[in-house]
Amino acid sequence: MVNAPAEQKKLPSWWSGGSVVYQIYPASFKDDNGDGYGDLRGIINKLGHIKSLGVDAIWICPHYKSPRVDEGLYVDTDIHEPFGTREDCQELIDAVHAHGMKIMFDLVVNHCSDQHAWFKESRSSKTNPKRDWFYWKPPRMIDGVRHPPNNWRSCFGGSVWEWDEHTQEYYLHYFCPEQPDLNWENPETRQAIYNDAIRYWLDRGVDGFRIDTVNMYSKYLDFPDAKVVAPETLWQPAGDFFSNGPRLQEFLREMRKETFSKYDCFTIGELPNTPSLEKILSYISTDAEALDCTILFDLADLDHRGGQYPLMGRNWALSQFKALTAFAQQLAEPEHKAHALTYLENHDQARSVTRYASDAPEHRLTSSKLLATYLLTLSGSIIIYEGQEIGMINAPKDWDIDTEYLDVNTINTWREIKHDAKVQNDPSLLERGRAGIQLTARDHARTPMQWDGSENAGFSSNPDAKPWYRVMESYAEGLNVAAQEDDPNSTLNFYRQLVSLRKAHKDLFILGRFQLLDPGNDQTMLFTKTALDGSQVAFVALNFSAEKQPFELPIELTARQNQLLISTLGKSSESRELDAYEARVYLA
Ligand code: GLC
Repeated sequence: MVNAPAEQKKLPSWWSGGSVVYQIYPASFKDDNGDGYGDLRGIINKLGHIKSLGVDAIWICPHYKSPRVDEGLYVDTDIHEPFGTREDCQELIDAVHAHGMKIMFDLVVNHCSDQHAWFKESRSSKTNPKRDWFYWKPPRMIDGVRHPPNNWRSCFGGSVWEWDEHTQEYYLHYFCPEQPDLNWENPETRQAIYNDAIRYWLDRGVDGFRIDTVNMYSKYLDFPDAKVVAPETLWQPAGDFFSNGPRLQEFLREMRKETFSKYDCFTIGELPNTPSLEKILSYISTDAEALDCTILFDLADLDHRGGQYPLMGRNWALSQFKALTAFAQQLAEPEHKAHALTYLENHDQARSVTRYASDAPEHRLTSSKLLATYLLTLSGSIIIYEGQEIGMINAPKDWDIDTEYLDVNTINTWREIKHDAKVQNDPSLLERGRAGIQLTARDHARTPMQWDGSENAGFSSNPDAKPWYRVMESYAEGLNVAAQEDDPNSTLNFYRQLVSLRKAHKDLFILGRFQLLDPGNDQTMLFTKTALDGSQVAFVALNFSAEKQPFELPIELTARQNQLLISTLGKSSESRELDAYEARVYLA
């Protein structure tokens, strides 16, 4: 089925009324062929489960052919072999549509694989026509010694520059050395990207993209040294130089004009290092004609990036969490002509129950419902990540970081932390690094999906297959789909109920105006959602603490007849005390 051609695109886009998107990490979702690794047929087999949540669309993390150093974030029109074939992929696209849902792919075009034909040609000689498709620089010579052109630390550790022996120059990589950055300055490169990575999939029926690191395309071409904040190491954090470069807007507009605008398509772009509302709107307001909405990072980063290493933990307060929510909800206000998007989990974020509430056995069910209530009452579009709908939690602390954590960012950062001279003189820093990884490493979101109570949580069709990641033991403690299916009180059924209520009260939950009521309170989060015409108001009361907390109904509610719409612990509408991690929603 081909995506709608431009001429027919007169109606509002499929996503513009706010959509709930279910995100899939294919390697860990469902293994159909029994090799211990998830695949596209596994997703096809589980579309019934996804549809039962009431979601509008699915987004699949990269399934493209790649050596998977960073788990497959590369440009390619081919499919990673263990995931299946191009035919499987087309079948998946069609099957999602047949289920009445939309399908989004991942677009990774800041960089590609060092095994991609483009880079192989580029590195073959200084005169190759594709030499300029990547960033190549001569060394900086200091006292006759070769050094990289600047001091930037790559997102995954080490220098952003990799020496190429063959052509005696460095190439740029913001992430792994195996992920060289594409040169967006070159119009020929941009056209090849539009063609191979975007139009190719839109023409096969894909309905949108999550766009990886979209604000990194335009570089500061003088590549200035970053400020030295960690003198004991060579490479300095340079996130501000990576993002929002001088030609970004121009590139995004061109990309949209030449590709997305010709299809009925949803674009969600990642905007790291972008705290300013004005800047965000310059990419996502409809006037900008660049992106449809954005994945922001400030809330996701709240509990880490507390030091030189991205995974070092830091303390946070609920008042900060609330302020960041209020900030992001502004994007939904009609005057901004933009679209808000909220997520608590994805393949780059550990499990939200562990991070923002409590995964203690006595609190995890209520905590998962608390966070579901928060998420699904916020305006705009929402992402639910696989496993979140059953309240999956982080790996237990006894998992060994050296052998059981597989993510390249965790491995590199842990190695750097262990070898840092400052850490060696201060063991408490090592413990802080360990605690940060246990709380926030991406690994926690990448373990196999927990389908049932059988061997390896039913992840693989072959009970003897060894899953590529260790399966969390929590599957045997009720955190699996089958166990929750028939339990009316389960997290899974709560998600279903909430998605349906969200749609039934669209004017409040999807389009309503957000107002935070108690900004300074670090135990509870209270907010209202008001229909834009003022006819209705919802009041959401969330207790993020393990103690009982009092609350009052706001005047907007007491002035009218009101009803208790949701109570995660079945409390009476009159009680004015929230139990540990309880959530309620009142309507008036
Ligand atoms: C994005 C992806 C992340 C990846 C990085 C580099 O942030 O979501 O998984 O490692 O970009 O492609």
